[in-house]
Amino acid sequence: MTSGPLRSTGAWELDAAEARKRQMLAEVRAGLERTPRELPPKYFYDERGSNLFEEITRLPEYYLTRAEREILLAHALEIVSITAPRTLVELGAGSAAKTRILIGAMQSRVANVTYVPVDVSEEFLQQTRDALLRENPTLDVEPVVADIGASLDLPATLAEPALFAFLGSTIGNFDWTGAVSLLRRVRAQMRPGDRFLLGTDLRKDRATIEAAYNDSAGVTAEFNRNMLRVLNAELGANFDPERFEHRAFYDEEHHRIEMHLHSIGAQTVELPGIGSIAFDDGENICTELSHKYDREAVDTLAATARLRVTHWFTDSKSRFALSVLEPLA
Ligand code: SAH
Ligand code: AVI
Repeated sequence: MTSGPLRSTGAWELDAAEARKRQMLAEVRAGLERTPRELPPKYFYDERGSNLFEEITRLPEYYLTRAEREILLAHALEIVSITAPRTLVELGAGSAAKTRILIGAMQSRVANVTYVPVDVSEEFLQQTRDALLRENPTLDVEPVVADIGASLDLPATLAEPALFAFLGSTIGNFDWTGAVSLLRRVRAQMRPGDRFLLGTDLRKDRATIEAAYNDSAGVTAEFNRNMLRVLNAELGANFDPERFEHRAFYDEEHHRIEMHLHSIGAQTVELPGIGSIAFDDGENICTELSHKYDREAVDTLAATARLRVTHWFTDSKSRFALSVLEPLA
């Protein structure tokens, strides 16, 4: 694939943009009408949000990315030798920074590797594809813009075997029902020789986890507030992001970080298509859950989607795990 926009321009593209906007409005309305209010985390990731997430991955407190990279550096060759994949399908690919380790390992075994990054963020996908093609001209890159929480429509024929990867612990941003549906969607695409590589952040002491979501530089706070900027830009809302405070805390019972935007004072926001939304002083909007796993939880999750964990790799401090899953008949 050559570089350029992921879609050609034309009337149908306007229709697609309009359909996306309508979908967003419906999801935002449903979330804001709930008690307590919530917004879907996929709306963090416009260009600014994607860049802020990249900054988060470099923060001293955010250990997840470094821990997962450590595992990939130690085990990528072993992982690709399990199935010798010719295709890598990556869900929520983002900048594919760590994925380059896997791609390199795959290319050391087979000549023609196809990489299918799937992401809801068209901006992220476009940058990733262009950068990969500059660095790695023999790589075949077939990006797919999709909401993996809703569907997984992949190119009709994926060279076999394929490795499906879902890294970064993004599975943790789905609740149990959403995670099971997502894994079932992946399982439905897998052929007997295909494998699934799943990254999960592990349960650990509260202080370490909470620090990762409350960094001292305030980047996570900006990332959180970026959701409101996205709503302003996409839906014409008039949120004042500075009047919402970032809050993130670990819920030990449910093994998850809850990230909220906390209203500073009572305020009313206008959102065209929805109307006036009144926030009480101190009212929260939940913007993200980030579930933390252990081996048993990953085994159970896999089993509910007719998958089985065959390999379990952790970093040297047991902060993060990469599991290899095989499809069960
Ligand atoms: N895999 C990368 C990026 C993680 S950030 C890493 O490990 O560092 C989460 C990524 O998932 C972002 O690129 C975001 O755009 C994407 N994402 C979040 N929700 C999504 C959804 N519902 N459908 C598709 N992609 C999604
Ligand atoms: C993408 N996802 C796995 C990140 C996480 O850790 O849940 C998003 C994030 N939220 C705040 N910091 C990073």
